[in-house]
Amino acid sequence: MLTLGIETSCDETSVAVVRGGREVLSNVIYSQTDHSKFGGVVPEVAGRAHLRKIVPVYRQALEEAKTTIDRIELIAATMGPGLIGPLLVGLTFAKGLSFATGKPFIAVDHIEGHLTANLLEHPDLDQRHLTLIVSGGHTMLVEVKGVGSYEILGTTRDDAAGEAFDKVAKLLGLGYPGGAKLEKLAATGNPEAIRFPRPMINEPGYQFSYSGLKTAVAIYLKSLASEQFREQQADIAASFQEAAVELLVEKTARAAGELNIEHVTISGGVAANGRLRERLRSRLVKAGKKLFYPSLELCTDNGAMIATAGFFRYLDDGASEMVVSAVPYLRLGA
Ligand code: KG4
Ligand code: ZN
Repeated sequence: MLTLGIETSCDETSVAVVRGGREVLSNVIYSQTDHSKFGGVVPEVAGRAHLRKIVPVYRQALEEAKTTIDRIELIAATMGPGLIGPLLVGLTFAKGLSFATGKPFIAVDHIEGHLTANLLEHPDLDQRHLTLIVSGGHTMLVEVKGVGSYEILGTTRDDAAGEAFDKVAKLLGLGYPGGAKLEKLAATGNPEAIRFPRPMINEPGYQFSYSGLKTAVAIYLKSLASEQFREQQADIAASFQEAAVELLVEKTARAAGELNIEHVTISGGVAANGRLRERLRSRLVKAGKKLFYPSLELCTDNGAMIATAGFFRYLDDGASEMVVSAVPYLRLGA
């Protein structure tokens, strides 16, 4: 079964063709760059860019998959969470396509898409597993009991992990979005140079908090003269990254232990971070557990994860009604 997956929840316009929920035939991702000069995503600008790009990206996805719309059997699109304007572009496009071709349409939760990226690539993953979703908008620890059956164990009280990476990257003069650039700079610094706080790390439960860490970096930077800033820039990046990663590793490893779960996955943009992958893997291996993560292309927002999540949902529940609308604050499992 060929599924078309459409993702437009934030600043990536992406369309993919996936066969049987496992085999990616194409996954075209257009990342908007118009936002860097504003230091963050401007919803109105993002919506307009999706409008300009959705048709060319869709055509390219079919072409790269060497197929045509006649051979597509299911049309999946993100319905939320995300920015209302951008979400409406992809969702309305998908519904129009479904209406015009008579193919079934399915609305997909973006967060379910992220965690499903692991199902796509790791068929040996246990049905019951623990997943950490870490992106620019979300930090969430979830027990997956089966397709569509989720228990949210913890979320962030304030900033998302990726948001903290982006804000600190901005303070360090690295531009937006800065997570990947910060990681690159951190590789040349000393992670133990500055001991930044690890908010809530020892509190019971699985809640996260990132705003205090970000503020601590901002206050530290204010105390520096410009020459000191240049000298310490890489150490600050490495020390921030170490604190940010430790928060994620600690809560995730603890949850896996306390709930007795063998298989753990990470997904979302921050799951691309090498230090997170390395530290979480070594911690889990010591506890006899296994870590899975998606390839880099499937960590950040993409249509393939939406196609796969839509495919599995369709097998379980059938198609969505055409009246489904975009839900900016959609809650996983709702
Ligand atoms: O999943 P995603 O593409 O979009 C959302 O759904 O938010 O995630 C984007 C986020 C951004 O905050 C970006 O800075 C962060 O993922 N990110 C990283 C890395 N690559 C992307 N953060 C840390 N290290 C990276 N290598
Ligand atoms: Zn995302």
